[in-house]
Amino acid sequence: MATVDDLVTECVDAIAEQDPRGAVREVLDRALVKGKLADSLGDPAAGLTVLYNAPDLTVLNVVWPPLFSLFPHNHRMWAGICVYGGREDNAFYRRQGATIVRSGGKELLEGDVQLLGDDVIHAVHNPARSYTGAIHVYGGDFIAQPRSQWDAETLEEQPYDLEAVRREFALAEQRFNTQPG
Ligand SMILES: [Fe+2]
Repeated sequence: MATVDDLVTECVDAIAEQDPRGAVREVLDRALVKGKLADSLGDPAAGLTVLYNAPDLTVLNVVWPPLFSLFPHNHRMWAGICVYGGREDNAFYRRQGATIVRSGGKELLEGDVQLLGDDVIHAVHNPARSYTGAIHVYGGDFIAQPRSQWDAETLEEQPYDLEAVRREFALAEQRFNTQPG
């Protein structure tokens, strides 16, 4: 059975390999095949839970609230995503002059694993009226790395603000829980 501790240990081993991204992808594929990831994680509240954080690796459990949209942002490091419950729609962007423009997308369903390159800019949406759970693995220090986010409406580039992201999660959850009907 894949436990969270196993997963983190396997990711630490994977980034020491010659092809860290490929090795992390294999770890995520294996974790999904073994199943039970969701059971092992319990029933976490919506938000970003840091499972591991070091200069060369960060592992997050991300629980997206129902109908949540997170503004475009970059990571400036590669990432691997595995969806263990629900669905995560990724919209990709590329820079164009001082702004960004849409450049494709990818719907990730339960059981999907996706690698993202170092220069990816994406926005994430949970289209379902239920929570989505995903493990996000980053090839660096996700907490400390300076990077950017873009205003959802004006697409103005701003410094990434993790606390603003956490507030967005809380607001989305609050909105869903207080909506009529
Ligand atoms: Fe992201």
